[in-house]
Amino acid sequence: MAKIHHLFLLKTSLAIAFLLKGFCDGKVMMEYIGATGAPVRFDNVPIEDGIDFHFILGFAIDADPSGNPQNGTFSPYWVSSLSPDSIVAIKGSHPNVKVMASLSGWSLGNTVLKWYNPANEQLWISNAFDSIKSLVETYHLDGIDVDYEVFRKTNYSSGSFSYCIGELLSLLKNQSVISVATIAPFYNTVAPYIELFRNYGDVIDYVNHQFYTDKVRTPQRFLNDFRLRAQQFDKAKVLPAYEVNGRGIQGDRFFDALKLIEENGFEVNGVMIWSADASVNNQYYYERKSQAFLLNSTSSI
Ligand SMILES: *[C@@H]1O[C@H](CO)[C@@H](O)[C@H](O)[C@H]1NC(C)=O
Ligand SMILES: *[C@@H]1O[C@H](CO)[C@@H](O)[C@H](O)[C@H]1NC(C)=O
Ligand SMILES: *[C@@H]1O[C@H](CO)[C@@H](O)[C@H](O)[C@H]1NC(C)=O
Ligand SMILES: *[C@@H]1O[C@H](CO)[C@@H](O)[C@H](O)[C@H]1NC(C)=O
Repeated sequence: MAKIHHLFLLKTSLAIAFLLKGFCDGKVMMEYIGATGAPVRFDNVPIEDGIDFHFILGFAIDADPSGNPQNGTFSPYWVSSLSPDSIVAIKGSHPNVKVMASLSGWSLGNTVLKWYNPANEQLWISNAFDSIKSLVETYHLDGIDVDYEVFRKTNYSSGSFSYCIGELLSLLKNQSVISVATIAPFYNTVAPYIELFRNYGDVIDYVNHQFYTDKVRTPQRFLNDFRLRAQQFDKAKVLPAYEVNGRGIQGDRFFDALKLIEENGFEVNGVMIWSADASVNNQYYYERKSQAFLLNSTSSI
């Protein structure tokens, strides 16, 4: 009896998972949050049911508060209003929400954070795995985003970044610590990320390329840029990105660009926005409109 019940539950949940997946059609939102220190909240952000909505916490950093590297031991530096309890609450009210932590970012206080080639790669990987596993358990996280932004220019390609990060993501996934992994290159860091993607692309779900750093301001130039990044990575995994009050294309021209990308034979599988901290002041206009765009293009297929 107990066994039949168990099987029935399993089948039902598989069926529901299948339906939800079909229903969502893989459209994702990637929303960075918590990096500026402003007391942002999850529950102010508009979240549509049909979207696979990812909050990306900024940032988990391999450094002590003074910026000294810790051999791969990551600590949380996102704003404290994004607490474990608030993550449980937002996931409870929106089952389509996932929460990720982004690794590194640009700086901690006045210290610019750099990828350093660890003296002992196995120690770095093992410390990173343990510290991230502990963050995942404490904060109920689903995934990791990789946002190292500064490399020693002449020597990123020692293979150390690709190896350490690739092995880390592989382990986190095959030990079922995380279910989603993304990377966030920008114009100046594309090369090390291409190396990582070539070697470990099967464990990387999406590419949050920071299109705004390419400073393309028109839909046509955004399309050309998308074409380039799609070729460097994987066209199904690259997500167009928008910086609120920022660089690159601004205003509704971003949505014209999304339309143009689709008209040219690509699928827009999601949108990345930097960031919720800035969107507080415009009532999350770009989050609302991006999700409406994604839902609209879902139903039209
Ligand atoms: C990092 O590891 C090296 C040995 O590989 C050690 O000398 C150093 O003290 C460690 N640093 C920290 C911050 O733990
Ligand atoms: C690049 O990094 C590797 C590994 O850390 C090192 O062995 C090599 O000497 C470096 N090359 C240069 C040109 O600095
Ligand atoms: C998990 O990934 C690590 C790192 O790539 C690898 O060494 C290990 O064999 C993998 N384990 C399984 C069960 O796939
Ligand atoms: C939805 O799609 C239709 C047909 O492609 C288009 O005319 C309309 O403007 C779209 N609406 C939004 C909100 O993108």
